[in-house]
Amino acid sequence: MQIAIINGPNLNLLGKRETGIYGSESFEHYFERLQQQYPTIKFTYYQSNVEGELVNYLHEVGFSYDGILLNAGAYTHTSVAIRDAIAGIKTPVIEIHISNVYAREEFRHTSLIAPKCVGTICGLGLKGYNLGVEYFVMNDI
Ligand code: DQA
Repeated sequence: MQIAIINGPNLNLLGKRETGIYGSESFEHYFERLQQQYPTIKFTYYQSNVEGELVNYLHEVGFSYDGILLNAGAYTHTSVAIRDAIAGIKTPVIEIHISNVYAREEFRHTSLIAPKCVGTICGLGLKGYNLGVEYFVMNDI
């Protein structure tokens, strides 16, 4: 099984950025732990701060991978291009947010990508990525 994890803008700063909201673990460190927990799954991790690069990467993995976990960061709330990319690919996408976006500013309550995703996991910290992996594993059995 092949799962891509895609993180959008500012998520390269995890562990340093607003640690009260996003925690103090870097994504690279978390990703190593995740890979150890699921040794039979082939994971790839991609992060970009650039909207078009995220679109390109969705196209790259979206016809061959079994699942995509996408934290589009702030583009969640603004990007028609990312929404259209999710709609245009074959691989199912789970929307992930580390923080509970519904307990935050009003502009974070709208997701342009949610209607094109199989589901959304938010507010559960980095554990949300584990839960997304579990969904794909359970669906594969
Ligand atoms: C986020 C929530 C977004 O509103 C924000 O812009 C982010 C991170 C999250 O993981 O909680 O960059 O996607």
